[in-house]
Amino acid sequence: MFTILVANPKGGAGKTTIATNLAGYLAGKRQRVVILDMDRQRSAARWLSRRPRGFPEIRGALPDTDPHIIRAYAPQWLILDAAAGVHGAQLHAYIRLADAVLVPVATSAFDFEATADFIAELNALKPLKDGKRAVAVIGSKVDGRTVAASDLDAFLAPLSLDVLTHIRDSQLYVHAARDGLSIFDQPRSRAEEAWSDWPPVLHWLQSLVTAKAHRSG
Ligand SMILES: Nc1ncnc2c1ncn2[C@@H]1O[C@H](COP(=O)(O)OP(=O)(O)O)[C@@H](O)[C@H]1O
Ligand SMILES: [Mg+2]
Repeated sequence: MFTILVANPKGGAGKTTIATNLAGYLAGKRQRVVILDMDRQRSAARWLSRRPRGFPEIRGALPDTDPHIIRAYAPQWLILDAAAGVHGAQLHAYIRLADAVLVPVATSAFDFEATADFIAELNALKPLKDGKRAVAVIGSKVDGRTVAASDLDAFLAPLSLDVLTHIRDSQLYVHAARDGLSIFDQPRSRAEEAWSDWPPVLHWLQSLVTAKAHRSG
């Protein structure tokens, strides 16, 4: 099982959007996926409850779900959708569970400031200091060719972090959220442009999965 933590200190940064769309993509590739909704707002769990029949199955879990139930399903992917503002001991506990951390960052000064503190806290945690956890940033609700995207890149450069990709601001995400779907559940003719933002994330994850498989030999 490969565990991905999606976290950022800011509400509205795009965590649940990244978590649900990643889940939708993986499920579409016939992978067993569980989303563990750590946010009391239960956005991911509610999204899942709206998911129409006939689309690739994604299972949901809550913090109090019996771990045996999750294990019995033998998921290949566990996606932790964190609440805003997760920090301290709780963040440390999540990091211990996770193989990789995705940090979506929207492009306002407020988001940058909050994220800088969060990244500093992350980097101080032992598994990250030891290089045992992979962390990547995703530009959220931003077109890669805009000034906002360059501002984000400039903000991240001194933190020695790269932006994996920019996920464009698109009504497709809003509609998919409403309907219990991901953009990968939509027809190619409608969603292809939005899909094109995702391969860097998918390749990054694949390389980490491969590296993990080599380690466990
Ligand atoms: N790429 C995007 N394009 C358009 N709307 C987006 C995008 N990402 C997120 N949103 C919208 O922004 C709001 C906050 O996103 P959400 O994923 O719930 O953030 P978080 O989980 O970090 O609080 C939601 O209404 C969501 O539909
Ligand atoms: Mg959320």
